[in-house]
Amino acid sequence: MAVKNAMTSDFLHSAYAGESLAHMRYLNWGEVANKEGFPNVSRLFRAIAYAEQVHATNHFREIDGKTADTSVTVGGVFGNNKTVDNLQGAITGELHEVEQMYPVYFNAAEFQNEAGAKRSFHFALEAEKIHAQLFQKALDVVKAGKDIDLKAIYVCPVCGHTILDEAPDKCPVCGTSKTSYIKF
Ligand SMILES: [Fe+2]
Ligand SMILES: [Fe+2]
Repeated sequence: MAVKNAMTSDFLHSAYAGESLAHMRYLNWGEVANKEGFPNVSRLFRAIAYAEQVHATNHFREIDGKTADTSVTVGGVFGNNKTVDNLQGAITGELHEVEQMYPVYFNAAEFQNEAGAKRSFHFALEAEKIHAQLFQKALDVVKAGKDIDLKAIYVCPVCGHTILDEAPDKCPVCGTSKTSYIKF
């Protein structure tokens, strides 16, 4: 159901914009990682880019379809640097979402009885916690000049839950079945 309150609507627009930028940023940084000889870090960026696409799509669905052009101001890290710097930028962004953005957005949606937005913010918050950890793991290794040791990465197509090696029988965040997970 579409959002009713202006405040939650604003937050959905901002979150949609932020996730859209994150999606593209990670695809670009994935290409940089590949060129620098870190194919697994590149794959991690691509997997998480997909998770951010899932979040953006969820937020987008909750926004009312108006024909008016809407301006949104959103922060983010712009441009390609070295992978070691890109990973630090990714961690900074994910931690901002985990520590400030999504908790505030979630509580606003709860206060305004916006069930759809609340769900969408909750899904994103839970995934971003994992993203911050995975990027930190990659950064620690890349700092030593090595690629991350990585088998498969699985992403839930409903909530963006991201997990290494094997998908769980059911997504711990949204309950989606193992067979639906997307493998990278
Ligand atoms: Fe993320
Ligand atoms: Fe899920």
